[in-house]
Amino acid sequence: MAKKKTVSKIPPAWQGLVDSALAAQKKAYAPYSKFRVGCALEDEKGRVFQGCNVENASYSLCICAERTAIVKMVSEGGRKVKRVVVVTSADEPCFPCGACRQVLAEFGSPEVLAIDCTATAFEKSDFDALLPHRFSSAQLDGE
Ligand code: THU
Repeated sequence: MAKKKTVSKIPPAWQGLVDSALAAQKKAYAPYSKFRVGCALEDEKGRVFQGCNVENASYSLCICAERTAIVKMVSEGGRKVKRVVVVTSADEPCFPCGACRQVLAEFGSPEVLAIDCTATAFEKSDFDALLPHRFSSAQLDGE
């Protein structure tokens, strides 16, 4: 199984996506949880899509930042997520929730970089470590 890696300095190749995720976090609509999340992902053409969490007074309708970004990508024609950055209000890096991992799995097996609220602590993980034994269209095809 692939390893989760803790990094002390943002890898330069990720800096642009990190900046995009931080910018997306500023747009978070999180009046209920106050937990602000920003996501930036890169598709197969190198295009970057940003997302933030969008909460609702009917709590179960809250939408995570990751899914906001994925839906934006797909609706603009993107079909493969190559890399993802997530930043949250937590003081330690947080990886996407289980539901978002499954939705991400539909569109690739991206590397994911998680950043703490101060953008000083980072963790990088490949997708197999985040969602092993995942359900996919392969099962629907009887494979
Ligand atoms: N949230 C995300 O945006 N992404 C995650 O992966 C986990 C949680 C949001 C949902 C809700 O608006 C707030 O964080 C608290 O759960």
